[in-house]
Amino acid sequence: MADIDAARLSAALKDRYTRVDVVDRTGSTNADLRKAVEEGAADRTVLLAEEQTAGVGRRARPWSSPKGAGLYLSVALRPSGVPFSALGSLSLVAGLAVRAAAAGVGVDAVLKWPNDVLVDGAKCAGILAEAVAGDDTSIVLGIGLNVLPLGDVPPGPGGLPATSLAEHGATNTDRTDVAEALLTEFDELERRWRLAGGDLTEAGLLGDYRAHCATLGQDVEVQLPDGTSLTGRAADIDAAGQLQVDVADGRRHTVFAGDVVHVRPA
Ligand code: BTN
Repeated sequence: MADIDAARLSAALKDRYTRVDVVDRTGSTNADLRKAVEEGAADRTVLLAEEQTAGVGRRARPWSSPKGAGLYLSVALRPSGVPFSALGSLSLVAGLAVRAAAAGVGVDAVLKWPNDVLVDGAKCAGILAEAVAGDDTSIVLGIGLNVLPLGDVPPGPGGLPATSLAEHGATNTDRTDVAEALLTEFDELERRWRLAGGDLTEAGLLGDYRAHCATLGQDVEVQLPDGTSLTGRAADIDAAGQLQVDVADGRRHTVFAGDVVHVRPA
């Protein structure tokens, strides 16, 4: 498989991002950019790696990142007009960008709230958004997208197996092209999100997210960050990107963060 063409990618994205770097190998592109942000890295700094030796997923799970098989990338953002309370919706925006990039190579993917990207019930991409402490609002948004088959990867929460674009007949698995499409889409959606102060309705993105979200209408079990869980019907997503779950006693719960298991498979 061909390496990512760093010169071609950064030329194609020069009007959208401040800088785009590709490294052969690192621990985690998110960890690298968090450090870079603390040291003053500019808004819209992008880092991609051919391989990660300590890739991390949500809840500090490992993210399998074998050389040349996927896109392992992070974007540092300083969305100054977006209140801290609205930052959570950015990862849903990133999910929409990944879905669109997959559609661009002929793969019909859906979103599992908040931001897993599934094809035929298996996971082909994950997103990790991390706020960085400091004087201004800053966030590192990491995306792992499996382009080529990964080999043996243990299933994720709820027994979700891993898959890749190639395993679903992608018409183009050139990672430079896929990265360009993904980062172009993300740039456009993120600018709309930022202009709307992080409100998905204002940004005109909530309808799009709902339309592609396989979680809505499903019976779900949500594992909450405090270790408890919630069982009910996924009823809606709000403008802040939160999931509304109707539970058996008729009450509606608003869930800001959690791992969702679709009790009936999507
Ligand atoms: C998840 O679904 O749990 C999120 C996975 C996020 C993985 C990406 S790969 C690029 C970036 N660097 C990391 O260490 N993690 C994110």
